[in-house]
Amino acid sequence: MLFVASAAAQLRDTFFDALSHPTIRYFTPPADDPVSRLDRRIAAGEVALTFDPRTGYLPSLLKALQVPVESQMVVFSKTSLQSPRISPDNPRAIFFNDSVVVAWPRGGFVEMVAQDARQGVAFYMLDQQNGTPHITRPSVCMSCHHSYATLGVPGPLVRSVATGPDGKTMPWLGNYTSDHTSPLDERWAGWYVTGKAASFKHLGNTFVTASGGDPDSVATRAFPPPESLAGRFDTSAYPSPYSDIVALLVFDHQMRMMNMLTRASWDVRLAASSPDGDAARVARKDAEKFVDYLLIVDEAALPGRIQGTSGFTEQFAARGPEDRRGRSLREFDLERRLMRYPCSYMIYSEAFDALPSPAKDAIYRRLWEVLSGADRNDRYQRLSLADRQAIVEILRDTKADLPDYFRSIGPSRP
Ligand code: HEC
Repeated sequence: MLFVASAAAQLRDTFFDALSHPTIRYFTPPADDPVSRLDRRIAAGEVALTFDPRTGYLPSLLKALQVPVESQMVVFSKTSLQSPRISPDNPRAIFFNDSVVVAWPRGGFVEMVAQDARQGVAFYMLDQQNGTPHITRPSVCMSCHHSYATLGVPGPLVRSVATGPDGKTMPWLGNYTSDHTSPLDERWAGWYVTGKAASFKHLGNTFVTASGGDPDSVATRAFPPPESLAGRFDTSAYPSPYSDIVALLVFDHQMRMMNMLTRASWDVRLAASSPDGDAARVARKDAEKFVDYLLIVDEAALPGRIQGTSGFTEQFAARGPEDRRGRSLREFDLERRLMRYPCSYMIYSEAFDALPSPAKDAIYRRLWEVLSGADRNDRYQRLSLADRQAIVEILRDTKADLPDYFRSIGPSRP
């Protein structure tokens, strides 16, 4: 008995519930993110969602949230909340912009995640019943979206899990959390992938038939993606017939970036609110990993030229902002690497702008250390002098809160 009591006391000491901490107040309204703002506008009668007999509120909701249909990606594994509905014949479509992700299995309700610049990523659902649209914020989402895989903060999640022809997962045959560092031959198990590329190894579009649970039966095969999903399931019931490869690559990058933004903000605010916390030290510690991710340093190699077919590539690249020479951090490379100028466009997000100042100061200082060439570590070799120069010049023209030391001198050869 004594042992149990002391173990419980220890647990109480080490378990720190950030969600209800007075500095964070994760569940305390009002939230201020694109979905909660839309909900308020619907309640005030400023916006009305229209109901489509096939897809319900989905198209109208995407429009109201400015989430492009071209971003559609399609997942067929039974990995999420409404898994009984999801299968290769009735997959789940996911759409995103910089701050909102919308997910919808045909026949089910709509799920949304939206980034509040201070509270972090919030989870919402919208019932698909014709009448008055109701957006709610259920806590059940936390059971999967608040874990080690989301960096310990509530947030989006990208999984690649071996999946059978009926949509059932076989995680013992392949189970990954994906971001831009994941090798392509571990990505997209349970997802459809469309686009144009030469044959390359990945796990998308594949149904695993586990012959006796032998992991060797799931060896990655090389094949080119189809240009569209027509013929694989009833694509006419979805907003688009694509699961765009370029959207998938961007999504894999962005979801972890969103969690890193929440983490960078919460860590520093929690340290600042604690009597023995050292916010500046915590900020410096987080900044190194944050900047490596921001500069897409450890990106998985691409297999040569990749093209999307949904229109996402063009739509995304056109969003800017551009510098005085017309360059932007949203321009793609898609041959050697994802982005032409490898510094994440998420530097323009509301969440980045709202980072507490110790976090933002530390991130900018570290960013300059790498871009200026002061840090000569081999891991930054992939950023050429021309890359660094272009990134600094683009930031000078497009990022209003950029510290002055970015303007003083140009980057030197590392
Ligand atoms: C049973 C675990 C589970 C629960 C519970 C769950 N999700 Fe998810 N969710 C996932 C997984 C896994 C993914 C990754 C994509 C996939 O496999 O469908 C995901 C993906 C998403 C996405 C796409 C963005 C992303 O994170 O990749 C949204 C939006 C989403 N979920 C919203 C919600 C909402 C809203 C709730 C609560 C109403 C919820 N989810 C509950 C497992 C879950």
